Amino acid sequence: MGQSRDLHIFDDAAGRAYPREVTAPQTSPNSEAVRPRPQAATLEFRSATKRYPGQEDAAVDGLSLTVPAGEICVLVGPSGCGKTTAMRMVNRMIEITEGDILLDDRSVRDRAPAELRREIGYAIQQIGLFPHLTVAANVAVVPRLLGWDRDRIEARVRELLELVSLEEGTAERYPAQLSGGQRQRVGVARALAADPPLMLMDEPFGAIDPINRERLQNEFLRLQAEIRKTVVFVTHDIDEAIKMGDRIAVLRAGGRLAQYASPAELLMYPADEFVEDFVGADRALKRLALQRVRDIDLWSAATVRSGEPVDEARRKIAEADIDMPVLVDDHGRPQGWLSERGFAGERVRPELRSRAEPLVELDDVLRDALADLIESEVHYSPVVDSGGRLAGVLSLEVISQTLHVPPERARTGPQLVDPAPGEDDAVSAEVEPA
Ligand SMILES: Nc1ncnc2c1ncn2[C@@H]1O[C@H](COP(=O)(O)OP(=O)(O)O)[C@@H](O)[C@H]1O
Ligand SMILES: [Mg+2]
Repeated sequence: MGQSRDLHIFDDAAGRAYPREVTAPQTSPNSEAVRPRPQAATLEFRSATKRYPGQEDAAVDGLSLTVPAGEICVLVGPSGCGKTTAMRMVNRMIEITEGDILLDDRSVRDRAPAELRREIGYAIQQIGLFPHLTVAANVAVVPRLLGWDRDRIEARVRELLELVSLEEGTAERYPAQLSGGQRQRVGVARALAADPPLMLMDEPFGAIDPINRERLQNEFLRLQAEIRKTVVFVTHDIDEAIKMGDRIAVLRAGGRLAQYASPAELLMYPADEFVEDFVGADRALKRLALQRVRDIDLWSAATVRSGEPVDEARRKIAEADIDMPVLVDDHGRPQGWLSERGFAGERVRPELRSRAEPLVELDDVLRDALADLIESEVHYSPVVDSGGRLAGVLSLEVISQTLHVPPERARTGPQLVDPAPGEDDAVSAEVEPA
């Protein structure tokens, strides 16, 4: 691989190349291997301001915020509000005009730009893979710059491709032989190659079709649950921000911070009219996408088995939140809502009033569960656990009550993809690339 080619990874969108020293490893080949590297860094913007030469207004104006180590901070706002500028000041692709940015309490101004850029993962929408290099060689670019030995690079490449769900055969292919989604995965793998304590991602999934985009988002959240990097993620899409962010910084024109909050807080308490407009009139509904059915207090229903004494069944019904009992099989799995006719004799008869449909699962996202209720034209439905056993009843009323819970009780994006113990296989199967 020619040295001059290495420069392109650090090109910005306008095609400006960065200093040649980028390609020259400044550490001896082995020093990197022995130096312990922090897993994730704390990032702090301190009144960071950027004024481009010849422009009166600042592109980023006195931005102050802290991203705790291991969290995803999403910068979101309308086009031209300074998101990319704010992000690129972090690895000094753009120089700070006033103020400062600190990485683990150390000013980025005190660091050599080349060193910073090796230490900070960077993934962009256009991906910027080298077309003449294989996938493996693309991922290996920064480790090579760092002077890692061949075995270490090979092992790391293999590990990363697996981490981003690319099959083994992909390693020897060229970017042109991959789908857009696969290329984007390679871009993420490359950004992660040197195990950076901070990742910058500028609209990384912006050019991908909606289905693959959602898949990539889910994959990245699953990955992040494992690697816990500090991530700055830029998007103009509020739904993506809500899904991906532990914290969201909403910027307005002129690069001014309008609000910095968790997704739930942002949706519940927009700071002003601008934020309220930006998050959308459906912000209450959007909050439902942050919660799962298992996070809320469900109604209880009596479970009744065929052949059970009617007296006993009636006692259970009296204690439940709703007076409609659920007929269950021997494993506690709901068969349907029991009708009054089932109580005609001394023992319960399996006379159904209606099937148990839709069947909501504890792990369903609340918004999807609501959609199921509406589509089935019912006001409530049984909820089952992973074994298919009745866990409670979800109703329109329960959902409407949860819209009033305090924000600290609402779950935020990344928690949604934390695989439950023992369910890792199911999760990875779900996000397998097409
Ligand atoms: N290299 C540059 N020179 C002059 N102005 C720039 C440059 N890059 C961006 N800008 C201006 O700075 C503002 C913020 O741009 P940018 O950070 O790219 O916004 P965003 O990423 O939110 O769309 C815009 O008004 C843009 O025109
Ligand atoms: Mg931008």
